[in-house]
Amino acid sequence: MGAMRILAIETSCDETAAAVVEGPDSGGNVRVLSNVVASQADLHARTAGVVPEVAARAHVEAVTFVVDDALRAAGMGSGAWGMGTAPAIDAVAATVGPGLRPALVIGESAARALAVAWEKQFLPVNHLAGHIAAARIHDGEEGRMKKEERHRFPAVVLIVSGGHTQLWRLDGPTSEVPPFNFGSWKLRLLGQTRDDAAGEAFDKIARLLGLPYPGGAALAKLAEEGNPAAFNFPRPMADSENEDFSFSGLKTAVYYFLERSKKNEGGRKGLDERLRRDVAASAQEAIVDVLASKTIRAAAREDAREVILTGGVAANARLRERLREALGVVPLVVPHPQYCTDNAAMIGAAAALRSSLPERAQR
Ligand code: KG4
Ligand code: ZN
Repeated sequence: MGAMRILAIETSCDETAAAVVEGPDSGGNVRVLSNVVASQADLHARTAGVVPEVAARAHVEAVTFVVDDALRAAGMGSGAWGMGTAPAIDAVAATVGPGLRPALVIGESAARALAVAWEKQFLPVNHLAGHIAAARIHDGEEGRMKKEERHRFPAVVLIVSGGHTQLWRLDGPTSEVPPFNFGSWKLRLLGQTRDDAAGEAFDKIARLLGLPYPGGAALAKLAEEGNPAAFNFPRPMADSENEDFSFSGLKTAVYYFLERSKKNEGGRKGLDERLRRDVAASAQEAIVDVLASKTIRAAAREDAREVILTGGVAANARLRERLREALGVVPLVVPHPQYCTDNAAMIGAAAALRSSLPERAQR
């Protein structure tokens, strides 16, 4: 099977997303024709986190419009889709897990219904395979895959988002002759968080500093002016022999530190601005230290010829800087920010790469 044109839907958390992608090309890369994301961040700011049932309800309301927008933006006409009037696509893909159950089923049901109505194939996609496949999208800017560029194996992948913190080893097919296929890549989980995800740690510490949800980006901004060496917050499991992570202890340490600081100030006023900046910078440094040192160790141990950084926390400039510095000649591939945070283009990319394999080779 050659290149396919795929409509993809993603509703695993708090983004309702749809995209049309085409691929893979002879270099094993995927092109994005449209990529639409409707964020529910405002809705969840009220509860300072995502309530699954609330997210699901919002997906129901948004999903048809988002799909319609994605088809239009891909140049597929007016949106008068129905029985017997299918758009020019080969398949409909959707995220089927992992994620929030009530949220996932909205996207999957929509995709299955469209596939039946349009007599197209339905392609189920794993959300994490999507995050990894984002590295195969060849538009965008920084660290992108150029059209003719191919992955170097083995690769070590760090997925860091509000929901996940995982290190994977990615092996290519035994022969690295193009076109190679995502479906034949071998993935092995090296380690993952035992409690909070890295993005969750950013968000919780941001909240302690009075920043609105999701506070990762705002905390990074506050940290720019702070001293990362001001406070020595714990680096949980940084030196452990395995490749697992733990972030809840760090959040607790920052909590007690801030409580003590408030008391020392005699409750006269809120936290001093300089202290807030230093806490933000020092907490960010602790998280980045753990992520970077574990990734670098894993890359050395696995003899990685490439490191892929993806997920919403890949937007963190300090993390990218630390990884680049430490990796030296080993290339760091970071998908364009719009394909790092949850989106449907990456789901379409994973589906395209998988379905370019003969049926029986798919798993
Ligand atoms: O991948 P994503 O959009 O959604 C999930 O699957 O969770 O990741 C969102 C996470 C949030 O926790 C957000 O605070 C964090 O990524 N994030 C950042 C930055 N930008 C977004 N964390 C640290 N620094 C940033 N610049
Ligand atoms: Zn995600």
